[in-house]
Amino acid sequence: MRESFTDQAVVCKHCKSFFRVAGSVNVSEKCPECGGELDAAGAFNLMFQTRIGVPKGDSDSNSGVKKSEGYLRPETAQGIFLNFQRLLRFNRGKLPFGIIQIGKAYRNEISPRKSLIRLREFTMGEAEVFVDPREKNNHPRFEDVKDRMLRLVLGEGEGGGEEEEKSVGEAVRSGIIVNEYLGYHIAKVGEFLERIGIPRDKLRFRQHLREEMAHYARDCWDAEFLSERYGWMEIVGVADRGDYDLSAHASFSNADMSVHAQADAQGEAEPAKLIPHVIEPSYGIDRIFYALLESSLYEEQVGKEKRKVLRLKSEMAPIKAAVFPLLNRDELKKKAREVFQKLRDASIFVEYDDSGSIGRRYRRQDEIGTPYCITIDYETLEDDTVTIRERDTMKQVRVAIAEVKDVLVKG
Ligand code: GLY
Repeated sequence: MRESFTDQAVVCKHCKSFFRVAGSVNVSEKCPECGGELDAAGAFNLMFQTRIGVPKGDSDSNSGVKKSEGYLRPETAQGIFLNFQRLLRFNRGKLPFGIIQIGKAYRNEISPRKSLIRLREFTMGEAEVFVDPREKNNHPRFEDVKDRMLRLVLGEGEGGGEEEEKSVGEAVRSGIIVNEYLGYHIAKVGEFLERIGIPRDKLRFRQHLREEMAHYARDCWDAEFLSERYGWMEIVGVADRGDYDLSAHASFSNADMSVHAQADAQGEAEPAKLIPHVIEPSYGIDRIFYALLESSLYEEQVGKEKRKVLRLKSEMAPIKAAVFPLLNRDELKKKAREVFQKLRDASIFVEYDDSGSIGRRYRRQDEIGTPYCITIDYETLEDDTVTIRERDTMKQVRVAIAEVKDVLVKG
C-alpha cells in the first residue's frame, strides 16, 4: 500500500537523468537518454511543495521571517472532507449523500509527456459519496445498473490479471467488486464514458493490485481507454476509500467527523454513531478529452481528397453549426449574418465563415467536429430556405430558416 502520493523513481548512473518506474522505465532497462545503467532512486513525492506567507522575494533574503510549508493539492477531494460537517448539515444530518467538485490539481510528475496524459497541472472531477458502512451492499438504485455488462480485468487472487465480461450485478454478487455502492459507481462511469462517445470496445475496468492501491483505498478500479498511441491508460478511477480520510482528519484536528445514523427501515441496522465510508469516482478530465478526441478523429477519401472528420456527438461538439454565404457577395453575406445572429440569439453556439471556397469551409468544420453547416444561396433570398449539411454523411437538406433551430436542437 502506498503511504502517500509517491511514485518510485530511477536515476541514470551516467547522465543522472531521472525517470518514473512503471510509467516509462524499469530499473532493469538502460537509460532512454544515454543507454547508461539505471539505479533505484526510491520513492519520489508527487506533491508540489511551496511556501506560504513569505512576504517578498526569495526566502533566503528573508531569513528570520516565519515561513510556513504548504503543498498544492494533489487531488480535489480533501476540501470536501474538511467541510464534511457543514455538508452533512446541508443534507440534514442524513446519509447517504454525495458532493461533486471539479478543479485543478497538481503533481510533480518526473516526465510530463504524452500530450494531455501526464500533466503537472490537470483538471479533476471528483465525487465523494458518503455512505453508512452498514449499507454499502444496499444501494437504493442498484437495480437500475445491475445488468450493465462490463469488461473487467481482475486484480490479485483467483483469476488475477484475467479479463472477464460480467454484469455489475454478477461482479458484486461474486465478490469481484467489493460492494454495491462501488459497483453502482463503476457502472455509472461506464455509462457516462459511452454516452459522451468513447467506443465500448476501447473501454475496460481494471482492478488495482495491492501494491499500486493508493494509501486510502480498500478497493479501486480504473476505467481504462485503449489509445492507439499509448496503449491502455487510466481515465477515471473509482475507489472505496473506507473511513480513511474522515478518520485521518479527525485524528489530526480533533474535529468530530462522526454521524448519528438512524436505524434502517428493515430494522436490521441499529442506531449508531459512526464514521461514514466514502466511495469516490475521480474523473481525469484532460485524459477523457484526449480519449474522446483520439477515438473521434478519422480520415476518409472523398474523390481525390482526404477528408479529416472529428465525429463528435452533437451534444459534445463545441460549435453546433457554421453559417456560410455560398459566394462572397454582399447580399448573401448580409443574409448569412442575419441567420447567424438569429441562432446566436437562440443561445446556439454557431460560427460564421466566409473565407475561402465553400469546400474548404466544410473541411475546416469537419475537422473540429461541427455537426452541421448552413449555407445561404440565391434561393434563400427568394424563399427564406437554406441548405443544412450533415458532417458524417455530407448529405444536404433544404429547410426553412424558421425551422433551422429545431433541426440543430434535435440533432
Ligand atoms: N482522488 C483520486 C486520485 O487522486 O487519484
